[in-house]
Amino acid sequence: MCGIVGYVGPQNALDVVLEGLRRLEYRGYDSAGVAVRVGGSGGGQLASAKKAGKLANLEKVLADQPLPESTIGIGHTRWATHGGPTDRNAHPHLSADGRVAVIHNGIIENFAALRAECEAAGVEFRSDTDTEVVAHLLAAVYPELPEGPGRLAEALRAVSRRLEGAFTLVAAHADEPDTLVASRRNSPLVVGVGDGEYFLGSDVAAFIAHTREARELGQDQVVEIDRTRGLTVTDFDGAPAEPVAYTVDWDAAAAEKGGHDWFMLKEIAEQPQAVADTLLGRLGDEGDLVLDEMRLSDQELRDIDKVFVVSCGTSYHAGLIAKYAIEHWTRIPVEVEVASEFRYRDPVLDRSTLVVVISQSGETMDTLMALRHAKDQKARVLAICNVNGSTIPRESDAVLYTHAGPEIAVASTKSFLAQIVACYLVGLILAQVRGIKYADEVAVIVRELQKLPEAVSQVLGQMEPVRELGRSMADAGTILFLGRHVGFPVALEGALKLKELAYIHAEGFAAGELKHGPIAVIDEGTPVVVIVPSPRGRSLLHGKVVSNIQEVRARGARTIVIAEEGDEDVVPYADHLIRVPRTPTLLAPVVTTVPLQVLACEIAATRGYDVDQPRNLAKSVTVE
Ligand code: G6P
Repeated sequence: MCGIVGYVGPQNALDVVLEGLRRLEYRGYDSAGVAVRVGGSGGGQLASAKKAGKLANLEKVLADQPLPESTIGIGHTRWATHGGPTDRNAHPHLSADGRVAVIHNGIIENFAALRAECEAAGVEFRSDTDTEVVAHLLAAVYPELPEGPGRLAEALRAVSRRLEGAFTLVAAHADEPDTLVASRRNSPLVVGVGDGEYFLGSDVAAFIAHTREARELGQDQVVEIDRTRGLTVTDFDGAPAEPVAYTVDWDAAAAEKGGHDWFMLKEIAEQPQAVADTLLGRLGDEGDLVLDEMRLSDQELRDIDKVFVVSCGTSYHAGLIAKYAIEHWTRIPVEVEVASEFRYRDPVLDRSTLVVVISQSGETMDTLMALRHAKDQKARVLAICNVNGSTIPRESDAVLYTHAGPEIAVASTKSFLAQIVACYLVGLILAQVRGIKYADEVAVIVRELQKLPEAVSQVLGQMEPVRELGRSMADAGTILFLGRHVGFPVALEGALKLKELAYIHAEGFAAGELKHGPIAVIDEGTPVVVIVPSPRGRSLLHGKVVSNIQEVRARGARTIVIAEEGDEDVVPYADHLIRVPRTPTLLAPVVTTVPLQVLACEIAATRGYDVDQPRNLAKSVTVE
């Protein structure tokens, strides 16, 4: 997601901030900007520069119009969420009088209401972002507060109390020569403490070149860094808080990966956040769904009589899962197809067909061509995409962004989970608008969706035995994956991850197909991973899968069983048992996929391969 840097100290702030932004580049971004505070204690000013594209673009602007030397600076690399990746949407955002500068990471859910309030007070907005509202609110609150130390922090507390959603905010004020303030809720922020200088960063990579002394902030806290008064932390109501001090023992490269060996591991660890952020701002007070940003009217949603889901690779597997959920919840027929096949077989499409294209990058050429074909045939196209402003959402009629944040590793992990969640939202909004489900029925599923981040965290907390298992499987020649119902696409995804990363022959099968062929390849010791459906709910399926485990085991397979807590039926047949929390059947892929990602990653690492950049693969495939 966005990168944030703040600096207060004796060095030239712009140099420190730009260097910090360079170290945060790995987070992925589409625009960048800086602001510094210049002038003495009276009559100070803010000066800023911002530009779409890479840091080099910003540096060119700064070379043409240099900013003055300063001891206070903030910098931002933006990953677009509200508003496209343009110059004017880049951060920092300044208040109308230019006295306040703000940078932000996250999503302010109630920004529309706050923006309307500012506009009613006569403020003219200069961007499409949710962030700008904070600059205006701060500018309105600040003059009402008593002069003196802590004034800007008090203003930020007052504003933070009014915000809903997830945010890290850093603010500077022209009247404050020594102070920066920041606040955080559900979004990262760390403080670096140097010798007479202080740093703010989205993560420690931002300041590791200067200091290893860090302070971790708690939830809903405001921090003030001041050249003379030091560090002050409070909650949003002003009650003092003690930040947790720690010393960073990573080098710069490890810091970028948050201490993980690979970006992929870091992204796997970020999945609870990716799932939570994808739900953020989309749930109404009554437990209903609010997807206004989708740009499809209720009437358009009611007119749909058929859905195609079209995508490639891992995104295709998210589509396969979508079919189960959308058909079950809406009773609308859903077909799922890889984009390269869809485009060239002349599918039957018309105005009442909804084509959902899923793409992490928003640039996959096969998917783009499928989208264009669907539009030519007058179908409605809805994109599920992770990159704001990319081609696929731009050309689609409607878009639902996954808020997984930038994905660096070639093999998709957190985007996949976020895509599945977005697909659930599409299914539920169709069911809600068409009246197939009552609001309270939608609310029940929504509540289950809200439990998923915690369930994924729980799985992640139990991965050490899976890693150990992975190390023991590194020499396997073939690994099979079996699943039924929504477990079938999970099996396909497990096999794909293994092929991509570990270059091991792997295949996913519908467990029922086993007896029609795949069982013949099972030899003594062949690892077979089985994704077992819940024994609750679809218990019929459960019994059948347990039988399938027995069948492969009888032929010598080494069985690796993924089953929910409390499922004792599988215990006698599992050589290795991986437990996942109890989750409703349709939502289970969000948890059962996670151990398969970890397994593939560990096998690949044990075999000595580059997990983040597997051979022959590209993150974004822009050719057909
Ligand atoms: C490439 C990547 C895969 C990805 C697929 C679809 O093949 O290596 O990881 O799943 O493209 O990408 P998209 O960006 O459209 O989701």
